[in-house]
Amino acid sequence: MPILIRGGTVINHDYSRPADVLIDGETIAAIGPSIDAPTGTDVIDAGGCYVMPGGIDPHTHLELPFMGSVSADDFEWGTKAALSGGTTMVVDFCIPDPGQSMLAAYQDWRRKSEKAASDYGFHMAVTSWSKQVFDEMEIVVKTYGINTFKHFMAYKGALMVNDDELYNSFARCAHLGAIPLVHAENGDVVARMQEDLLARGVTGPEGHAYSRPPEVEGEATNRAIMIADMTGAPLYVVHTSCRESHEAIARARAAGKRVYGEPLIQHLLLDAGEYQSRDWDHAARRVMSPPFRDRSHQNSLWAGLQSGSLQVVATDHCSFTTEQKRNGFDDFRKIPNGTGGLEDRMPLLWTAGVNTGRLTKEEFVAVTSANIARILNIYPRKGAVAIGSDADLVVWDPSASKTISAKRQLSRIDYNVFEGFVCTGAPVVTISRGKLAWRTGDLRATRGDGRYVERPAFSPVHVANSTWKTETAPKGVARGGITP
Ligand code: URP
Ligand code: ZN
Ligand code: ZN
Repeated sequence: MPILIRGGTVINHDYSRPADVLIDGETIAAIGPSIDAPTGTDVIDAGGCYVMPGGIDPHTHLELPFMGSVSADDFEWGTKAALSGGTTMVVDFCIPDPGQSMLAAYQDWRRKSEKAASDYGFHMAVTSWSKQVFDEMEIVVKTYGINTFKHFMAYKGALMVNDDELYNSFARCAHLGAIPLVHAENGDVVARMQEDLLARGVTGPEGHAYSRPPEVEGEATNRAIMIADMTGAPLYVVHTSCRESHEAIARARAAGKRVYGEPLIQHLLLDAGEYQSRDWDHAARRVMSPPFRDRSHQNSLWAGLQSGSLQVVATDHCSFTTEQKRNGFDDFRKIPNGTGGLEDRMPLLWTAGVNTGRLTKEEFVAVTSANIARILNIYPRKGAVAIGSDADLVVWDPSASKTISAKRQLSRIDYNVFEGFVCTGAPVVTISRGKLAWRTGDLRATRGDGRYVERPAFSPVHVANSTWKTETAPKGVARGGITP
């Protein structure tokens, strides 16, 4: 049945105007003043509300086996939580065990994600380097429609890759028209600091933060930027949490490099004081990497979003229950790393960003959907209220109020790191590919409604001799992506 959203103000990243929006099937059919509703149309009154592109969260870990546990929100409940908070697409990380075929890991993720209630895509992780990885990267790009490869510079002995592996993989990305992503922390230094802290008797969650100071993130960010530049690849830095990392990205961009930075809603709003709680559970529930930082870093991240040196706000949703966190009761290295936020990212960012005047409504759309849609090469299919775009929309009531509470959340964990935060501005309706997914507390989306979204490669860097072991790209000619 067609849906007409009547009487709202359409907000895109580049313009706003009062307009009705007609949805026919899975896409937007018309935008304009006083659109007639064909017979049988479901009419939604959006008076006083904004009509925006549904959010895209490009950083989730649903049902991820990690550090001896499996993250608690699976594709069904993670995406249902997302829809209730105005997010209509997630991009999850397909992570092969080191040595495992990427193709096998992709099949595992496709199987897990059949339950998704919203649209989704994948990034592929490079967790080791071999001729097989080199060959499979091409299949991942050309056959599976994945144009992003993730690299962990931390988690030594598990997912971490070294500089040689980064160089090989970044060069391969440049050749294939893909973007490398990095988790930027110096994993060797983190491992040494962890040992030293434990030897000094620091076993609690505060040790997690002490072992991963901003310096280790800043160094790794600078290193990844240099390696990307040497190989001719663009670079996307996930969970940029501190001034040191943001400044490295801003410097690179000022020098003409295509480098993107992604702060998380957690790092924008929560600080390192959380790890000093006398309540072990409270602190452990907030253990993630990079850890929360001192408040001064938050100002830098907000400034990055305002000035455009940082482009995307994500969540890194990787939720573990309190019971799972207790695996690390005697040793902070064993606390599964990860927090949640998928359900709350949009209302929290609106409250702390738009209501405070830090972000305009259009900038809110930019950092929650349009910029990442452009970086991932799915714009304007996603990230825009435009004729022909997927009808992934949120009707946003700027006066709706919501107090965050674990008791009322859809997420499957028993707490919420934002418990008690009061948000003003929230979705009243979420529409996912033309279907009503959520309406004022009533979840309509069902398991399996989501579809896998393929993402085409960018124009590759021209490499004359592109074979295993000989692939190099010219320095400083980063291609791919756009520059939001
Ligand atoms: O602590 C985190 N961030 N857990 C998820 C894995 C990752 O590093 O992104
Ligand atoms: Zn990470
Ligand atoms: Zn992550």
